[in-house]
Amino acid sequence: MWRDALKFFLHPLIQIHLRHKQESKQRGDEGVLQVADLATGTGIWLFDLVKSPEVNGLNIQFHGLDISNSLFPHSTWLPKNVSLSTSNLLKEPPESLHGKFDVVHVRLVLSLIGSGSPKPIMRHIKMLLKPGGYLQWDELDPRNHYDVLTPKPDEKAPNMTSTFERVGTIADWSWIAKLPETLREEGFEEASQSPHEPNPEMFKAWTYMDLCLAEELSYNLQRKYDDGEHGEKWRGLIPKAYDEADEAIGAVLRVRPTVTIARKPLD
Ligand SMILES: C[S@@+](CC[C@H](N)C(=O)[O-])C[C@H]1O[C@@H](n2cnc3c(N)ncnc32)[C@H](O)[C@@H]1O
Repeated sequence: MWRDALKFFLHPLIQIHLRHKQESKQRGDEGVLQVADLATGTGIWLFDLVKSPEVNGLNIQFHGLDISNSLFPHSTWLPKNVSLSTSNLLKEPPESLHGKFDVVHVRLVLSLIGSGSPKPIMRHIKMLLKPGGYLQWDELDPRNHYDVLTPKPDEKAPNMTSTFERVGTIADWSWIAKLPETLREEGFEEASQSPHEPNPEMFKAWTYMDLCLAEELSYNLQRKYDDGEHGEKWRGLIPKAYDEADEAIGAVLRVRPTVTIARKPLD
């Protein structure tokens, strides 16, 4: 789904950066390129990237890091150039990882940040990157890039609309659109963000994924208020929103995931 919307795993500028780095390594300085994926979950982004033509001919070691190893495949089943380990991206990384990576990627950490600040994660990433290394941050933006659509313009999908309106207001998501500005404040260079719209045949898959996200957020809300009311009431809309996605109505959520890139200065 992400590949379908973005048309890449690694931003084209970052692919060029890695090819330049590899050429300069071949000219003298030994070593292998290092790519990290933080909050890697199942490691799916890394496993897709490893098989992608984007990295053909590049000598890369891939590292997946997550606070929990519960979704990791057992190390026996991993490709040789992939390793997975546990690490908390809200804490300072261990010294052995400082300045180690040419590229650090992170995707879908919005529920972790909520209404908070992305700065602690940016600082963590800056410590991991080599000078001149790139960050790529793929994120949904519930505030700016969410529309419920139906095939017939006069047909409504009230439950899906309410579900996603709630996602948009449950937290202050304004930090997502401001990622490039905040990265500049944190001393990154060349920061930019672009939205990427999925093809219409993929809208339903994105809708399902976002209904799962809505459910996760509804539990967060329930924990926050601890009264059973807020989260449960909202969660009650979700099965009805799935019904509205069915053939009879065909409602979908049009999302435009954003990709933000930035570079750590060369010192
Ligand atoms: C929505 S999943 C995203 C997984 C993956 N990035 C992807 O796009 O498929 C969020 C991930 O963040 C991880 N996570 C939550 N808190 C974390 C923390 N403090 N440090 C590192 N990872 C964390 C969770 O364990 C989970 O795997």
